Amino acid sequence: MSPLSPYARFVALLILLLNFHAFAAENADSAADIYKDASQPVEARIADLLPRLTLDEKIELIGGASFMTTHAIPRLGIPEFRMSDGPFGVRDVNREGSKQVPTRVYAGGMALAASWDAGLAHKVGAAIGRDCRARGINIFLGPGMNLYRAPFSGRNFEYFGEDPLLTGVIASGYIQGVQSQGVAATMKHFVANEQELNRHNISSDVDERTLRELYLKPFEMAVEAGVWCAMDSYNPINGIHATENDWLNNKVLKGDWGFKGVLMSDWWSMVSTLASANGGLDLEMPGKPQFFKVEKLKPLIDSGQVTMATVDDKVRRIFRVVFSMGWMDRPQFDSSIPMDDPQSDQVTLEGAREGITLLKNTGNLLPLNLAKVKKIVVLGRNADPAIAVGGGSAHIDYMHGKSLLDGLKELAGDGVEIIRIPWSTMPAGTDFSKPSKTPFALTAYGAPGNPALPQDFVDAIKSADAAVICVGFNDNVKDYWQSDHARPDAEGEDIDRTYQLPPGQVEVVKAVCKLNPKVVVVLNAGGSVETKDWIGDVPVLLDAYYPGQFGGTAIAEVLFGKINPSGKLPFSWETGWEDSAAYGHFPTASSKDNTYKEGVFLGYRWFDSKGIEPLFPFGLGLSYTKFEYSELDLQASGNGDFKARFTVTNKGDVAGAEVAQLYVVPPQASVPRPVHELKGFTRLDLQPGESKSASIVVAAKDLGYWDSSLKKWKVTAGKYKIEVGSSSRDLSLLGEVAEAAIDE
Ligand code: BGC
Repeated sequence: MSPLSPYARFVALLILLLNFHAFAAENADSAADIYKDASQPVEARIADLLPRLTLDEKIELIGGASFMTTHAIPRLGIPEFRMSDGPFGVRDVNREGSKQVPTRVYAGGMALAASWDAGLAHKVGAAIGRDCRARGINIFLGPGMNLYRAPFSGRNFEYFGEDPLLTGVIASGYIQGVQSQGVAATMKHFVANEQELNRHNISSDVDERTLRELYLKPFEMAVEAGVWCAMDSYNPINGIHATENDWLNNKVLKGDWGFKGVLMSDWWSMVSTLASANGGLDLEMPGKPQFFKVEKLKPLIDSGQVTMATVDDKVRRIFRVVFSMGWMDRPQFDSSIPMDDPQSDQVTLEGAREGITLLKNTGNLLPLNLAKVKKIVVLGRNADPAIAVGGGSAHIDYMHGKSLLDGLKELAGDGVEIIRIPWSTMPAGTDFSKPSKTPFALTAYGAPGNPALPQDFVDAIKSADAAVICVGFNDNVKDYWQSDHARPDAEGEDIDRTYQLPPGQVEVVKAVCKLNPKVVVVLNAGGSVETKDWIGDVPVLLDAYYPGQFGGTAIAEVLFGKINPSGKLPFSWETGWEDSAAYGHFPTASSKDNTYKEGVFLGYRWFDSKGIEPLFPFGLGLSYTKFEYSELDLQASGNGDFKARFTVTNKGDVAGAEVAQLYVVPPQASVPRPVHELKGFTRLDLQPGESKSASIVVAAKDLGYWDSSLKKWKVTAGKYKIEVGSSSRDLSLLGEVAEAAIDE
């Protein structure tokens, strides 16, 4: 190395001195500036900062600066804060936040809920938090926590199913995981946004009891779990726009539940300045703001229609998050975390493994025996390339997609012939390995007007040991948006999808069943699909939801028995849509009525109370082993809370995991109540022959219903029946506890 010239040494010294000077000046500042002092209590820092901000600066802070950033105030050393979409991973952001780049895709939403594993949700959340730190993201825009009301909602796949407790528990684990990394999570969309159709205009009309018991409940639990940000929904609720909804935002969220963080708008969802400012909205997103801006807000402050206290409260909330998360005390960008973080490989895979749900396995066709299987045919558009996530703002391009075809090939090795059969009448030269960008891509051979299936394929299907058909929807919402919503095959934001599988897919399933009975159908969808034409013909249905970038590996592991499936269905799957709670009053293109007429009788609460047999009940998930439940013991504590202890035994000869579920049957009340409701669950790993003792604690206050006239929770005095078992329809352990009345 050549020694430095005297001139270079002089310049280096000068730079050093200047840097030292800047450092000293900054430190001298921070000695006096309480708001910059990390050792000071958060509220003291806010109190110190607030008077230093001009009114214009305060208004700037409550309106976004760009699509995903807030305003910086350089004079006070306040940087911009960056956001990113989720919830399956940190969407399309490089370190600078400027480019769309592939990222890591986890099993999120429905796939994660199907694990019923709050610990896993925490790990996925923490991995996402690390990915945020690797990109300098402060606020992560997830999880989505609306409930599953009908299979049509294009965003069901982002959410956690039909039950408020399951949703609240999974969401809370995930939120605490994200926030454990110094990143704020955002619960969205607050509230009652259960359809995508005309979502800006259709009012969700829901009575207060139904809101409190079902749709608000997971959000309430997330607040208890310490979530820092919330996002209002696009829709009006009972005629009042979410962003202006004083009752929901001020009374319920910030009042009843004591939420101390930031409530932001969904993107371009605001419709007013005055009503939103007073209606509890804290931050307009994205920038440049249209409503929370100086020209519009200042006159309202001058005239006294919006008070300074209201504006200050919004700013206070923003800095409560900033200081609590330490965003001004350390760089948010952590260069020690790689963009593609190998530390997260395991949790990416675990997420996919735990959620996959085996719904039907006639004759124990699964697992396929690798020692015996010689040939497998693989069909279906979703078999390759992998569809890791649905579309819309949740869409992510993965870094390393593992399709089902890849997964099968890797696991089967050379001893098994895996034949990929394209099943389409697309023009000659179509590359079947890529998702087609053309609408109606998958039209089956042999369907009316289409050519017959080539003989080679017929022979291969007939002679295969199994035909694996991966059906479902895809994430191609970008095309959908561009093509004036003309795609019937995508599932994602802004679309209510069809109940039917995309065109051609049922024909594929039926045609294969005629050639070979050993058919395994694997599904990518956020909810149920119409099955009446084919479910009787197929021995196996495996719901993979959208399992993230390593889904293909996990599904192959399940097919070959390397992993014993343990996912449980987070929604009720009806025999036909007409059996469902929201049938006849879910909004459609011809009827914009969105009254939640089923009230609290949603999902299994409906099927079980009305005695309607679902096709696959809520909580169902088959295993390659058998679990036996025994020895229920209920111990009441003095205050009415109780603990259910019981034993679960693995009676089969392979290891497996079981999600034990506890439901409570309430006594008669002055209002009709669901016949039973999920009140707790626990997941157990069991070796063959192993027994484990499990316990679930239920709080007395959680047994109540919302009394709309008195506006409070009420627990009726009387006997509560306790049911424990493996799904909402398989509850073999029964007991009873006596409760005193609670009125709160
Ligand atoms: C979605 C939100 C998302 C936001 C930012 C909206 O269209 O509804 O869930 O976080 O866009 O991309």
